[in-house]
Amino acid sequence: MNNIRPQLPKIAVFASGFGSNFQAIIDAIKNGVLMAEIVCLVTDKPESYSVQRAIKEGIDIIAFSAKNYASKADYEKMIAAQLIAKGVELIVLAGYMRIIGNTLLTMFPRKIINIHPALLPAFPGAHGIKDAFEYGVKVFGVTIHYVDSGIDTGEIIDQASFHINGTETIDEVETEIHAIEHKLYPATIQKLLEDNNL
Ligand code: GRF
Repeated sequence: MNNIRPQLPKIAVFASGFGSNFQAIIDAIKNGVLMAEIVCLVTDKPESYSVQRAIKEGIDIIAFSAKNYASKADYEKMIAAQLIAKGVELIVLAGYMRIIGNTLLTMFPRKIINIHPALLPAFPGAHGIKDAFEYGVKVFGVTIHYVDSGIDTGEIIDQASFHINGTETIDEVETEIHAIEHKLYPATIQKLLEDNNL
């Protein structure tokens, strides 16, 4: 029997900002670290740099402004319809600054993952690095988790950490966190796709 998959697994990346993790995923595909196809970028910030990256790479863009929709369910239905039409098998949140609602969670069960710049369950929310730094932790890290209806509460898939001696600036810590993210996210996505036979 021929086990060769005719097409690469299709993923969608959701981003609201700079998109360095989006770029790391693009680069990992180019370098053969990740065997997948990014079929679209979904963004709630049409002016964000993540959109420039998608344009440069010729990746389809689904851009929307939440204020143009009556509810989260309304814009998520629009997104879900397009993702299903494109055959998306895994949704990868990479700095997407909106809480995923029941519409997407129901339509993509255990198919939505997120990266968070702290060692969950510590320091959830939008300022994980600053919160951990100000608390004075000596071990920092990154968490990749399934998305559920909470804020950074879903089941943990993988984590990576590093120790500081306390003399580092927050900028230095942040640089190290992003460097870890850019390696761990593509590798974890690849492993998930393999584990799910995608
Ligand atoms: C990353 O630190 C990620 O962990 C968090 O948002 C940040 C996004 O950065 N969820 P970028 O837009 O990928 O550069």
